[in-house]
Amino acid sequence: MTKLQFKATQESLLGWYETDARNSLPWRKTSDIYHIYLSEIMLQQTQVSRVASEYYPKFLQKFPTLSALSKASLEEVFSLWSGLGYYRRAKNLHSTAQLCPEGLPDTPKDLLKLPGIGRYTASAICSFGYKQSVSVVDTNIARVLARFFAEKDAKEKELWSLADKFLNTKNPTEHNLALMDLGAMVCMPKNPDCDSCPLSKECLGKENPDLYYKKKSKVYVDKELHFGMCVKENSFATVKSQEGMYKDMLKLPSLEAHRYEDACLGDFKHSVTHFRLKVFVYLVDEVQEDVTWVNMQDIDTAPISSLTQKALKLYKESLV
Ligand code: ADE
Repeated sequence: MTKLQFKATQESLLGWYETDARNSLPWRKTSDIYHIYLSEIMLQQTQVSRVASEYYPKFLQKFPTLSALSKASLEEVFSLWSGLGYYRRAKNLHSTAQLCPEGLPDTPKDLLKLPGIGRYTASAICSFGYKQSVSVVDTNIARVLARFFAEKDAKEKELWSLADKFLNTKNPTEHNLALMDLGAMVCMPKNPDCDSCPLSKECLGKENPDLYYKKKSKVYVDKELHFGMCVKENSFATVKSQEGMYKDMLKLPSLEAHRYEDACLGDFKHSVTHFRLKVFVYLVDEVQEDVTWVNMQDIDTAPISSLTQKALKLYKESLV
């Protein structure tokens, strides 16, 4: 590709972004670094539409600044996160606010030192927030680049190099956002719409896009979990989770199943990260551990995971 063709392709991408992309998303219309950072954390595992319409505005209404967030209790943050899942994100957000209540650092190197910020998020904050000339690679951008440059089996490091090579240093922010949207809306994993693609003229992979896109097959681990449901006066017993992704959240107490088989209320399936869980719930009279009683009316705002919510649903269904 000549330099001229290269430039024309970058221009074509920007033209497409202005007219066809998702440039009205709320976090793209602000220059507040904290707001942009928040959006990136929320978007890590949650659909754009859910974040934009519900969680992002609700969170910012309660905690409009990093400083406000730093003064909140973890429980308050968890309750706003309720329903979003992957609570470790909320915990990292809260820790980050406490580490830098006056503002986030402005280099990838310093951002990477904060909990929950990896290479993508650090670059996204620098590109979308600080408008720096840095490249960004997420799964959508990786797919677009691999196809455009016809790179088979490109490793992460190579994809970042391709992103650097293609970066439009005059308009780096819009360029990165455009690539991201192109991956989400046009250069999709299945059936990419090459006819509508602003990069199609120079795209080396367009004849066989599937060749340059490989979905990693996920390795699942099957596991059984057993929890006790102890209810008194419309409240149920919870214990503080000590480890893993649910650390500091409230959960039902774990049980040794064989002792309670007769009192089994039922079971349900639940998937989280690479675990495929089968969860059994048992009615119990007492709990040995340190207990926090949660009123049934507070289950939408208590810091409990969707797994525990499902267990409660099972309990309620068993009553009727
Ligand atoms: N805009 C900025 N970052 C984004 C993301 N992670 N997903 C969708 N749109 C975005």
